[in-house]
Amino acid sequence: MNCGFTYQSAFTQNSDKGVILACMSTTTGQVMGDVDDINRYLESIDVFVARWPFSDLPEVSSLLLMPGLDDREKEELLKAFDNTFLRLQKEMSMKSRDLIVLHPGTVGLSSLLDKFSPCHTHDDEEVRYIIDGEGEFGFVFPSGEQALVKVEPGDFIRIPKDTEHWFVLTKTRRIKAIRYFSDTTGWVPRYTASKVRIS
Ligand SMILES: [Fe+2]
Repeated sequence: MNCGFTYQSAFTQNSDKGVILACMSTTTGQVMGDVDDINRYLESIDVFVARWPFSDLPEVSSLLLMPGLDDREKEELLKAFDNTFLRLQKEMSMKSRDLIVLHPGTVGLSSLLDKFSPCHTHDDEEVRYIIDGEGEFGFVFPSGEQALVKVEPGDFIRIPKDTEHWFVLTKTRRIKAIRYFSDTTGWVPRYTASKVRIS
């Protein structure tokens, strides 16, 4: 996550929730940009966030800039990031990976996003590494409190199974995220009764 000016601009519109200036905001008005602080806050629901910035990748920089990619281009991009996959295979028992590419021209984008914008859980963990664009993951704590974490290129996030959350794109409606799976059979949304109270 980058807590720079762009991010600040994205959040200052939420005046009813206080001035929100950093990478994670909560319904109790807390705002934080330090990844250690964010992880401490999310510890009780076992969500893990990391910043793994990647250096220039000249061989795939043009692919990162393209809004849409075909299957061959996706695989080329995935291979460029396979050091991260190897790390996750060892450290988190990840077994497979794919690349989700969303942009304003994606066919059915709104209906696709509608699947993940309500509060839901999964029977398996949700593990993502953002390599282009941006999005926001929201979390519901057992207390009812909610927190919103913005993710940008270089951000990694791991959401355990059965953790209540949601996902939205920002106004750019564009993201490229590598999805890592330990078991693809459990990755469907199970909707909960909670309503999103922070945006
Ligand atoms: Fe999800």
